[in-house]
Amino acid sequence: MGGGPGGNGAGVESKSLFWAIIMSAFAAFGGILFGYDTGTIGGVIAMSDWVETFGKYDSSIGWYLPTNDSSLVVSILSAGTFFGALLSYPVGDMVGRKWGIVSACGIFVLGVGLQMDTKWATFIVGRVIAGLGVGIVSCLVPMYQSECAPKSIRGLIVGLYQLAITLGALLAAIVLNSTKDRSNHSSWRTPIAVQFAWAAILTFGMICLPESPRYLLLKGRTDAARVALGRLMTLPADAEEVDKECREISDALAIEMAHSSGSYRDCFRNNEDRNGFRTWTGIMLQGWQQLTGINFIFYYGTTFFKASGISNPFIITIIADVVNTAMTIVGVQLIDRLGRRRLLLIGAAGMCFCEFIVAIVGVTADGSVNLAAQRVLIAFVCVYIAFFETSWGPVGWVVTGEIFPLSVRAKSMSLAVASNWLWNFGIGYATPYLVNKSTTGTANLGVKVFFIWGGTCVGCFIFAYFFVPETRGLSLEQIDRMYRESSSMFLVFFWVLSFSDLVSPACIVVASEA
Ligand code: GLC
Repeated sequence: MGGGPGGNGAGVESKSLFWAIIMSAFAAFGGILFGYDTGTIGGVIAMSDWVETFGKYDSSIGWYLPTNDSSLVVSILSAGTFFGALLSYPVGDMVGRKWGIVSACGIFVLGVGLQMDTKWATFIVGRVIAGLGVGIVSCLVPMYQSECAPKSIRGLIVGLYQLAITLGALLAAIVLNSTKDRSNHSSWRTPIAVQFAWAAILTFGMICLPESPRYLLLKGRTDAARVALGRLMTLPADAEEVDKECREISDALAIEMAHSSGSYRDCFRNNEDRNGFRTWTGIMLQGWQQLTGINFIFYYGTTFFKASGISNPFIITIIADVVNTAMTIVGVQLIDRLGRRRLLLIGAAGMCFCEFIVAIVGVTADGSVNLAAQRVLIAFVCVYIAFFETSWGPVGWVVTGEIFPLSVRAKSMSLAVASNWLWNFGIGYATPYLVNKSTTGTANLGVKVFFIWGGTCVGCFIFAYFFVPETRGLSLEQIDRMYRESSSMFLVFFWVLSFSDLVSPACIVVASEA
C-alpha cells in the first residue's frame, strides 16, 4: 500500500502531510459554519433590537418574544439540518464530496441572506434554508476528510472538524458581544452577515482542493482518481505509489460491490461486510454523543448557572466555551495516540462521574447554593466539558467518518448525521420542559436532570464497549477487512476484550497482512 490517503509508506506519507493538513484546515471550515450558526441564534434573540423587530409589544411588559416563537426560531435550524443531513447523500453522491460542500455553501448563503430581512416569515425560512446547508456540510466535511487523510493522522484531521465547531461557537460569542449594543438592526445583522465570510472561505478552499479519490473510484473515474491521489500525495499521477493506492481502493470496492448494490436497503443488510452492523453503529454513536447531554450546557447553560444562584452566568458561559475549545485541541492530538475506543470509554466514565457530582451537589444544596457549592458545580461542569471534548466530541465524528464501506458510505453517513441532528433537536426541545419550574405538570427536575445525563453516559460506555472497534492506524480498506473478518464469533470475542491493543481485531488484521 502507498503512502497517501490511508497509505503506509513513511517517506511518502511525510511528503503528503503538508497537503493533508492544508486540505483539512480548509475543509474544517465547515465546522465553523456549523458551530457559529448554532452558536449565534441564542444571543441574537436576546438582543433588544432583534426583539423589537420580530417580537410582540405589551404595554405592561414592553417588547417580548413569546415562548413559542423563541422555541421555533431556535429549533427550526435543527429541522433544516436534519433534512440537510439526509440530503447530503444525493448531493455527495451525485456531484461529489467537493462540489457537494460547495453547493451546500450556496444554499447556506441563500439562507443567511434571507435572515437579513425584517419579516418574521422570511427570517424563519432563512433559518431552515441555512440549516439545510449546515446539515449537508456537517455530513460531507468529515466524510471528505476521512477519504483524503493519510491514515496515521486521520483522527487528528477529522478531529479538526470538531475543533472548528467549538471555535465557531466561541467566535459567535465574541462577535455577539461586540455588536450587541449597535442600533438600526446592525446588532443582529452583523453577526448573521459574518457567516457570508465563512461560506466564502470554505467555497474558495474547496474549489482549490482535489475531489476525494475514493469518490472518483466509486464513480469509475480512475484517471481523475489518480490525479486527485497524486495531488494529495504530492506525487505525479503515474507514480508507483499512486498506482498501488488506487488498486488497493479499487480492490476493496470490488469486493464490497460483489455483495452490495449500494442501495438504502444495503445499508442495513448484514452481508459479508456487516453493513447493517456498521450503519447502526454510526446511527447509535451519533445518538449517544447527543445523549451525553453536551448541548444542554451550550443551549441552556447560562439559564442553568443563573438558576443555581451564580451571579454572573455569562462569564461562566464564556469560560465553558474556552474550556470547550482548549480541550478539543488536546482531544484531537490524543485520537491517533490513545485510540478512538479507549477515549470513548474513558470519556463516558469521566462524564458520568462529573454529572453525578453536579447532580448530587445541586440536590444537596437544594436551591441555596453557597459559594463553595457554586465553585464545585462550575468546576465539575468544566471537567465534564473537558472529558467530552477529549473523547465523544471529536471521536464521534472521526469514527462516523471511517466505519462505513465505500459502497454505501454516503448513505450510511447521512443517516448517522441525521440521527445526530434528530437527537440534538429532541434534547433541545424537551429539556426546558424537563428542567423548568412550572405549575402545568412539567417535570421540574432542575439540577436533577444531571442524574439523567449521568445515566445516559453509562449507556455511552456500554455502547462503546460492545459496538466500537479500534480503528487507529488502519486505512479505510483495512477497516473494511477488519469488519469482514470479525464476523466470526472468535473475533467478536476478541473485539469485546480489545481494550488492550494486543488482542484488538485491528492488530489481527495488520498482523495477517505482515
Ligand atoms: C459535537 C456535537 C454537537 C455539539 C458540539 C459541542 O460536535 O455533535 O452537537 O454542539 O460537539 O462542541
